[in-house]
Amino acid sequence: MTPVAASIADGNGGSVGKARHVAIIMDGNGRWAKKRMMPRAFGHKRGVDTVREIARAARDMGLEALTLYAFSSENWKRPADEISDLMGMLRTFIRSDLEEFVANNVRLRIIGDYQALAPDIVEMIEDAMARTAANDGTTLAIALNYGSQQEIARAASRAAEKGAITPEAIEAELDTACLPPLDLLIRTSGEIRLSNFLLWQAAYAEMWFTDVLWPDFKPAHLAEALAQFIARERRFGGR
Ligand code: IPE
Ligand code: IPE
Ligand code: MG
Repeated sequence: MTPVAASIADGNGGSVGKARHVAIIMDGNGRWAKKRMMPRAFGHKRGVDTVREIARAARDMGLEALTLYAFSSENWKRPADEISDLMGMLRTFIRSDLEEFVANNVRLRIIGDYQALAPDIVEMIEDAMARTAANDGTTLAIALNYGSQQEIARAASRAAEKGAITPEAIEAELDTACLPPLDLLIRTSGEIRLSNFLLWQAAYAEMWFTDVLWPDFKPAHLAEALAQFIARERRFGGR
């Protein structure tokens, strides 16, 4: 039973306390670079440094799961050279950081249709997931070629193959089925929209928006978001 269901069943309807699962829409790399009159790739590179720093912080803060939106199914609309820069950085990141995940009990998961990426990336991802599968510390889920509407459609058709299409049946087929329920959704860079990210999972998630651009996002910002999360009263429709 999910904490959402549990709190309804218990009739307490209140906050479930500490955040277990935080997701971040990592936005603003391009604007960060532009402000410095640098190419967008420079912003993405600094964005990868932030990923590393925030993943470490999430682990130190005891989060069960951190989900990061790295590449959306709509990001294919970008110019080919930017896509190729992003894919190159993904390769470099997996190569440079996998040993740290293995050593620190971090389990790496991917959400989204990653199998449509270049074959060498698919191979690297599958190797990284296999090597960290037994880790039971923080789960770092990276959303790659991810679109929430597509995910829900895939989940619904799998649910239909098995039987009735109920919310529970769909939820069990989502890419996030291996993660705790989403507690807090953060978006950087001042945009107040979801951009096709975790639409289903955000049904009762708390949201936190900041103007800080992703390359400037620090563990202190994550800590601030978590402190505000704890102070909020979650009702899940109860009272
Ligand atoms: C977020 O930064 C990273 C990705 C979407 C891959 P952007 O590249 O969207 O940066 P802005 O929004 O143009 O500043
Ligand atoms: C969302 O950011 C996707 C990622 C952060 C990977 P975008 O920059 O693509 O979103 P829009 O286009 O501003 O909505
Ligand atoms: Mg953007």
